[in-house]
Amino acid sequence: MTRVPKRVFLLFPIIVLLLLTSCRMKRSSYMNEEQRQHLNNSYDSLQGSWETLMSEYKTGRDTLPPKLKTMYGRMQQMHKQMGTTHNQMMGRQRRGHMQGNKMMGKGMGMHRRGQMTGEWYQQMMSMHQQMADMHERMGQQSMARTNRRLSRGYGRMMQKLPATNQTSDEASKEEEQPSRINGEQLFVQNCASCHGNKAEGYSNVFPPLVNTEWVSGDKSVPIRILLNGMQGEIEVNGQSYQGVMPSFKARLSTAEMAAILNYLRSLSESSSPQITMDDVASVKQNYKDRNQPWTAAELKAD
Ligand code: HEC
Repeated sequence: MTRVPKRVFLLFPIIVLLLLTSCRMKRSSYMNEEQRQHLNNSYDSLQGSWETLMSEYKTGRDTLPPKLKTMYGRMQQMHKQMGTTHNQMMGRQRRGHMQGNKMMGKGMGMHRRGQMTGEWYQQMMSMHQQMADMHERMGQQSMARTNRRLSRGYGRMMQKLPATNQTSDEASKEEEQPSRINGEQLFVQNCASCHGNKAEGYSNVFPPLVNTEWVSGDKSVPIRILLNGMQGEIEVNGQSYQGVMPSFKARLSTAEMAAILNYLRSLSESSSPQITMDDVASVKQNYKDRNQPWTAAELKAD
């Protein structure tokens, strides 16, 4: 038997490693054609289900409780914003269709785009899930089914996105000081669809964000809510809510989060200290491994 030089044994694992990392890099830096096709097809087919749902809604609107009507109203705006983000990620945006959610810059990495879009899919998934449950309790099986189909569809789309568990540190490089960012405008773009244009909320569905202990209390609480979202029962100014607040980790930079929270804190009567970019960055660092939404009980505990 001829002796194989030792060096070959040493080289072999290195070559395998190189091959593996290059494949991984390719897959994670941009979507392949099959994934794109799949996501675009799913998106288009869910648009069809959404239109079906809207026509069911228009027929049955008068029989629905105010809470559901509010959700449908909000959902119409959210679907538009989600669509804009999806189309931007896919590079198929149309002119004049760019406002709404924060524009995704040309230079923005694919990871961050994917993650922003993923947060929207997730938001759609949980909103449709909640609506399906409400319809079911009222015995409206057809609308419950359409909502479930949508919820499942967005859930599957989320899984089809290339893995993006990076945080948006990319964004912080190009960041401006929060005081130079228009917090009110960002609030309107990102939060008003649920919390109302003046952050007044919608009784029993979406809580208000003015004069609430969650916004005006300890800095870390509202920052954690923006980073990971929240879920489960919460009491706000004597009323109870049970819904899903999405995560904004990928959709907002640290400076933008600070600017929105400072805007909200300035609307409230009690005076609370300004939130700086460093505050947001350090809370983000402390909880960097957390992916789950918070519960009110957890936020109160420490
Ligand atoms: C898809 C709807 C939705 C969007 C968009 C949304 N929220 Fe919320 N938010 C909720 C719901 C629902 C709750 C209550 C969560 C619960 O039931 O546990 C909540 C709770 C909160 C709370 C804690 C309770 C309170 O009233 O003080 C804060 C703070 C908050 N949201 C801030 C924001 C900010 C800031 C934005 C925009 C960056 C935003 N939310 C966008 C739905 C939303």
